[in-house]
Amino acid sequence: MNQPPDQPTIPVFQPALGEPELAAAKEALEMGWLGMGSYVGSFEDRVQQFLGGQRHVVAVSTGHAALHLAFLLAGVTDGDEVITPAFNNVADFQAILACGARPVFCDIDNTTLCLDVEQARGLISPQTKAIIAMDYGCGLADHDRVQQLADQHGLRVIHDAAHSFGSKTPGGPVGSFSDLCMFSFDPVKTITCIDGGALVVRTEDEAERVREMRLIGMTQRSSVMYEDKRAWTYDVRLPGFRYHMANLHAAIGLAQLGRLDSIASSRREIYDLFREAFDALPNVQAPQNLKAGGVPFLFYLRVPEDRRADFRDHLTARGVDTGIHWQPGHRFTLFKDCRAGDLSVTERVSREIVTIPLHSFMSPTNRDRVIQAVRSFFDE
Ligand SMILES: Cc1ncc(COP(=O)(O)O)c(C=O)c1O
Repeated sequence: MNQPPDQPTIPVFQPALGEPELAAAKEALEMGWLGMGSYVGSFEDRVQQFLGGQRHVVAVSTGHAALHLAFLLAGVTDGDEVITPAFNNVADFQAILACGARPVFCDIDNTTLCLDVEQARGLISPQTKAIIAMDYGCGLADHDRVQQLADQHGLRVIHDAAHSFGSKTPGGPVGSFSDLCMFSFDPVKTITCIDGGALVVRTEDEAERVREMRLIGMTQRSSVMYEDKRAWTYDVRLPGFRYHMANLHAAIGLAQLGRLDSIASSRREIYDLFREAFDALPNVQAPQNLKAGGVPFLFYLRVPEDRRADFRDHLTARGVDTGIHWQPGHRFTLFKDCRAGDLSVTERVSREIVTIPLHSFMSPTNRDRVIQAVRSFFDE
């Protein structure tokens, strides 16, 4: 059965935007303070509360900006190396480069698709400054082991939690237990600000440095700006960037955070349905690592590599869009000479993986269309 003419294509990602976000955006626009202001302060407070109140949260313009500032905070500089899964977002690689450092590509675990910690151990060199532990898709990296490894070698850990915002673990919510943690609130994330990010740090001193760096280095006090005002005198002590979050974006993020519980449970429900529908399919692997309290971000299938193109065409013909997350870092021209471990799992996964649509509040019709489109390929 091909795509029914009256049914639009189901995109891979679809933000859950509705009345609360529209009302928040209207209010923020009518208030008229468009730059960083009171909504940004409230957004940070809300995220901090969600994380249990012990950490400092600094909102920024994108997840990429949060990563860049995280590396600077970690002291990553010219000639340094940062170990990253080769299977990661380009934003991470570019943020390393922006500090004058080089990514070192590490393989991933075949089940979680997150950093292979044992291989990372072998990649550490005198130039290594930090390790990225990135949570992929539906589950988390092995943060205990990454932190242990980092402690043994005096390295900083940057927890890339772009995919795992909202997830809770026995050790606390994601963001509450790592060295430096970043979130992305870009258009496709579980919670969106349209564009936005946050860096979560342990100390007020680190938070203050991030606050300066996000405001092109101006020591302009955030507390003044959070009253929708500006202090007209300031010093510049650190290199900085125009990385702050805007009020309009924070307002939308706040509306989204107000719906986090229902967004999370709707995504978990779809994950369960997909697992039930796809687990028994021959030669197909669905993610297995969503734990209690986890919030799935993207749902992927690993299909035989020689059938992937046909599989994607089959879904396209049925009005179901697909994606590929990701092409691995070492394949890009800019990074092809970077140091790397044996990347055989990354290579295999990048040839097999296909992202299929998973949205918050996905309609029963669309869930069924996705399930039918996938199953019919393997039934043929
Ligand atoms: C794992 C990961 N890290 C970082 C980013 C960058 O976040 P942003 O798009 O907000 O810059 C993304 C974006 O998709 C991501 O998937």
